[in-house]
Amino acid sequence: MAVEQRLRFDTLFAERTRAGAGEGLIAILALAGAKDVISFAGGFPDPQTFPGPAVADILRELVEDGDASPFQYAPTQGLAGPLDFVAGRLERLEGRRPEEAELLLTSGAVEALELAGKALVDRGDCVLVEAPTYLGAVMAFQSFEARVMGVPLDGEGLIVDDLERHLAGGLRPKLLYTIPDHQNPAGVSLSHERRLALVEIARHHGLLLVEDVAYRELSFAEERPPSLWALAPDVVLQVGTFSKTFFPGVRLGWAVGPAELVAKLVWAKQNTDQCAAALGQRLLEEYGRRGLLDEGVARARALYGSRCDAMLAALDRDVGPAATWTRPSGGFFTWLELPAGTDAVELAGRALEAGVAVVPGPPFFSAEGGERHVRLSFSRVSEEEIDDGILRLGALLT
Ligand SMILES: Cc1ncc(COP(=O)(O)O)c(C=O)c1O
Repeated sequence: MAVEQRLRFDTLFAERTRAGAGEGLIAILALAGAKDVISFAGGFPDPQTFPGPAVADILRELVEDGDASPFQYAPTQGLAGPLDFVAGRLERLEGRRPEEAELLLTSGAVEALELAGKALVDRGDCVLVEAPTYLGAVMAFQSFEARVMGVPLDGEGLIVDDLERHLAGGLRPKLLYTIPDHQNPAGVSLSHERRLALVEIARHHGLLLVEDVAYRELSFAEERPPSLWALAPDVVLQVGTFSKTFFPGVRLGWAVGPAELVAKLVWAKQNTDQCAAALGQRLLEEYGRRGLLDEGVARARALYGSRCDAMLAALDRDVGPAATWTRPSGGFFTWLELPAGTDAVELAGRALEAGVAVVPGPPFFSAEGGERHVRLSFSRVSEEEIDDGILRLGALLT
C-alpha cells in the first residue's frame, strides 16, 4: 500500500489567487455585519430603499402570466425586454441609446469588471486604477494577474495630468478603471473639465476607459456632468449596477461600450454564469417600466442626501480641525484625512472598541497608501447613529 499523501491545498492554488487583496474586502464585509456597533464600514444600501411588496406583486403576475422566460435560461447578452428597458433608460439618462450589440446585462457590476479582466488582461499587463479605488475592481483585475497601478485623486477626481505624464513616459496600460461619480472610497467626482480632458487623452493614446457608474444616479444635486460613455462611446466601457437603485440581492448590472468589446465580454460570460438571472431581469424590467425605479431612486437620493448632510454637520461639530474630509455631492462615502502621525488602522481598532466601525485606508490602494485615511459610509445608519458615532470618533481624535 502506498503511503497516504496529505492533500496540501496551498500547493494546488493557482498563481492568480495569490495577489492577496481579498482579505481587505472580507474584513470590511465582516465589520459591516458586526453587531452592537455603529457601522460606518460597509457600502451597503439601506434596506428601507428595497422594493418590498411591489416586487411580490410583480412576481405573482409573472407566475400567473404563464410566460416561461423569467424561469428559463436566458440568452447570454440578456433577455430582449430587459435589454430594451436598460437601453431606453440609458438614452433618457445619458442622452445616447446603445446599439443592440453595445449592451450586455451582467450579474452585478463586479461581474462586468471580472469579464473585462478576462477579456482584456494577460498576466503582467498594466491596469491603471485611481488611488484610492474600489477594492472589488482591484481584485477583479488582479485575479487575471494584472499589474495594478494607482493614479492619484484630488478633490476634482482623477488627476488627469498625472495620467498623461505616465502615458507620455511610455506606459502602455491595457485600461484605466475610474469611478467618476461620487467615488468609492473618496466621495469625490470628476469635474466636467477633466472628463473632457480624459476622453481626449484616451482617444489620443488609444487607451480604453472603464467607467464604473455605481453611484452616478445617487447624486444629491439635479445637475451632473456627462458620463464618460456619453462623451466618448468609442473608447469607454461603462459598467453599471442596479444594486444601489433596485436591490443588491438581485445581482444585476450592465456593461455598455464598443460592440467589438461587448462581444468579447459576452464570450467571457458564456463560461462564468452563462446569463444573468432571467427572473431578476424581468423583475427589474417590470418594476422600471411602471415608473417605480425612478420613484425609488428619488427617495434614495433624498435619504442619502440628508444622511450625508448629517454626517458632514457632525464632523464639523465633533471632529473639527482634528482631521479633514471630502464633501460628497452624492453616493455613500466621505473620506477622512487624519493628522500626521495618526495611524488609520490603529484608529479603526480603537474606534471598534468604542463601538464604531470604520474602514482604514490601506485596502483601497493597490500599493502603498491610505495610512492616514479612513472611509466613512453614511448609507446604512440613522441620523441619530451618525451623531453618536461621530461624537465617539471625534473623542478619539481630539
Ligand atoms: C464602485 C463600485 N462598483 C461596483 C460595486 C458592486 O456592484 P455590484 O453589486 O453590482 O456587483 C460597488 C459596490 O460596493 C462599488 O462601490
